[in-house]
Amino acid sequence: MADAAEPGAAASPAFPVPTMPAPPVAVVGLGQLGGSLAAALAAGGREVSGWDVDTAARDAAAARGVTITQELAGIVVLAVPLTAMSTALEGLTIASDATITDLGSVKRPVVASLEAAFGGRFIGGHPMCGTERSGHTAVDPALFSGARWALCLEPGTELPRWLRVAEVALAVGAEVVPVTAAEHDDAVAAVSHVPHLLAAALAAAAADAGPLALALAAGSFRDGTRVIGSDPDFVTAMVEGNAVPTAEALARVQAQLDLPWPELIAAGHAVATRQPVLRAVRVPLERAALLAVGRAGGAITRRLSAFVEGWVPEP
Ligand SMILES: NC(=O)c1ccc[n+]([C@@H]2O[C@H](COP(=O)([O-])OP(=O)(O)OC[C@H]3O[C@@H](n4cnc5c(N)ncnc54)[C@H](O)[C@@H]3O)[C@@H](O)[C@H]2O)c1
Repeated sequence: MADAAEPGAAASPAFPVPTMPAPPVAVVGLGQLGGSLAAALAAGGREVSGWDVDTAARDAAAARGVTITQELAGIVVLAVPLTAMSTALEGLTIASDATITDLGSVKRPVVASLEAAFGGRFIGGHPMCGTERSGHTAVDPALFSGARWALCLEPGTELPRWLRVAEVALAVGAEVVPVTAAEHDDAVAAVSHVPHLLAAALAAAAADAGPLALALAAGSFRDGTRVIGSDPDFVTAMVEGNAVPTAEALARVQAQLDLPWPELIAAGHAVATRQPVLRAVRVPLERAALLAVGRAGGAITRRLSAFVEGWVPEP
C-alpha cells in the first residue's frame, strides 16, 4: 500500500509541482462527455481545442471557447461512442508527442486497440459520471465535479503521461482512481452495466404488468429505471463490449435473488448503512503503489512534486 499520512495531511502545504505549462487539451467528440470536459477546461482558462463530425456540436463547443481544428496536440481526449473509438482519429493530424486518452465506458477493447496504435502514450480513462441524455445539448461543465475518474495504468503505460492526464481530471474536480483495464471492466460490470440491464428488465416487466402498474409507479420505480432513457446504441455497445464480466456480475445478482427475501433485504441494507472511515494517504509516483489505492477503494485527489495525495477507506 501507499505511504500513509495522518488524516488531514492531504491539506498540508507541500512542494508545488515544477511549473511546466499545462499542455493544451484537444477533445474529439464534443457531445455530453467531451463537450462538458472541453467547456469545464476552457472555463478554467486551459487552452482547449476539439473536433466533432457534427457541425452543431462543433458550433456549440466554439461558443464555449473551444478552438475547432483537426490538428490536435497536447493531451488528445477521445470522447466518441465506443464503436468509433478505434477510427475517430483517422483523417485528423495528431502531434507526434501527443498523449492520447479516452472517456469510454469499457476499457479492455479500447486499451487493446489504442495501445496497439500509440503504445505507452495511450492512457485509457473513464469518468464515472454522465446522465441518460446525450449530445451537445446535454453539456454540463460541472459534470465531473466530485466524480471518480478511472485511469488505466497498464504495464506499458508511460507514468509521466498518466500523471498529465490525471491532472486534467483533477482540474475539472474529479478524483482519480488508478486501475488496470481488466480491473475496471470487472468493477463497472457490477455497478454500471448490470444496473442498465436491470433497469431495462424492471421497466419491461412493469409495462407487462399493465397500465395500472405504470400509473402507480413512483419513487422506487423511477430510481430503479432512470437509465432506461439512455441512448439504446450507447448501452448496447457498453454491455456487449464488456459481455463476459457483465454476464458474471448478472449471475451474482441472480444468486442474490435466489436467497430468502429477508436475508437478501438485510444484506442489501447492510451495504447502504456502511460508513467507511477514510484515511489520507501519500502515494509515491510508482505504478504498484498507485494501483494499490484503486484496489483499496480509494482515490487520488492532488498531485504534488514527488507523490500524489488521496484517501483510502479503512479496511
Ligand atoms: N453518457 C454517459 O453517461 C457516459 C459516461 C461515461 C463515459 N461515457 C463514454 O463517453 C463517450 C462519449 O459518450 P457521450 O455520452 O458523450 O456520447 P454523445 O453521444 O453525447 O457524444 C458523442 C459525440 O461524438 C461525436 N462523434 C461520433 N463519431 C465521431 C467521430 N468519428 N469523430 C468525431 N466525433 C464523433 C458525436 O457527433 C457526438 O457529438 C462514450 O465512449 C461513452 O462510453 C459516457
